[in-house]
Amino acid sequence: GKDGYRHYMEKELHEHPLVIGNTLRRMIDPATRRVVLPDLPFDLAAVPRVTMTACGSAFYAGMIGRYWLEGEARLPVDADVASELRYREPPLTPGGLALLISQSGETADTLAALRSLREGGQHVMSVLNVPESTMARESDVVLDTVAGPEICVASTKAFTAQLSVLACVAIGAARARGTLTDAREEELVQALLDLPGRAAELFGLGDAIREVAEVVADARDVLYLGRGAQFPVALEGALKLKEISYIHAEAYAAGEMKHGPIALIDRTVPVVALAPNGRLFEKTASNLQEARARGGRLMCFTDNSGAARMARIAEKMVVLPDAHEFTAPILHSIAVQMLAYEVALLKGTDVDQPRNLAKSVTVE
Ligand code: M6R
Repeated sequence: GKDGYRHYMEKELHEHPLVIGNTLRRMIDPATRRVVLPDLPFDLAAVPRVTMTACGSAFYAGMIGRYWLEGEARLPVDADVASELRYREPPLTPGGLALLISQSGETADTLAALRSLREGGQHVMSVLNVPESTMARESDVVLDTVAGPEICVASTKAFTAQLSVLACVAIGAARARGTLTDAREEELVQALLDLPGRAAELFGLGDAIREVAEVVADARDVLYLGRGAQFPVALEGALKLKEISYIHAEAYAAGEMKHGPIALIDRTVPVVALAPNGRLFEKTASNLQEARARGGRLMCFTDNSGAARMARIAEKMVVLPDAHEFTAPILHSIAVQMLAYEVALLKGTDVDQPRNLAKSVTVE
């Protein structure tokens, strides 16, 4: 049941801290505080390239994983949605790694992509929430997200569990490839272990998120902006809003604004910005300033150390706890999911069973 929550989505949002902790516990040895990947039937150090594919939210999790794999393990990652990849016929280097991500393990396009990547001589690694699924049976290695059953059609806790696994894969791959110092590994593992606690703190942000939700619920169109690994978080936020509140939302990499989308900006199109402090903070801030100068209403998700800077341009702010730049996208994902939920409550939609959608898409 819903354990007293109004919707499965609300219950599942509250399971983020637990699920992240349970997923990490499978992959981080508490004694050595090192990432332990299962025995692989291939050598990660020898993999020339990764082809990551999935659908919907699972694909956005993979996009965040791409930043981690490229940044930490210096592995080239090709990323495409499964419905395109399966027909694209990309040239594949034998011995490459296919990285598939799926909550259900039954998504038709992802499964078809898995089969064609295997045919192309790729090792198949899948990040799955259902260990007895079809994709699990057809993979060389399965990494489990320990999210438990996800009932709400809109994915929440499975998403952060996928991110937890992908972060560990990036750390494990980086170690195997010699691109990670011990000090950096310690730092990243600590950042991951801090996540459940930080995620639990997000539930104290309800009032700030509701204020943003009131602006968003009145809009017909909403823009989500982020840079770096916060760009896929923007995509996730926009998808979740579309799915459960039926409000049109688009996500852009903030630096792309001036190449077209900024023409959309006016008082009627709120901008949800993902801007925690970090390497791209000032660049994001100046993109947002440009939107603001054109009359855009900025709803800014930042963190404690970014709050003073953002307060100068944002109309409304949601201030998350500070986190390591590596893990900040995970916290911000939860926050944008919470926003979508609050907007859906204001709209009075059927949160757990949105129109036209199925939990698992087993037809092409
Ligand atoms: O079961 P899968 O993870 O393969 O499903 C993929 C997508 O259908 C899924 O993430 C979908 O986008 C969700 N409704 C997002 O909330």
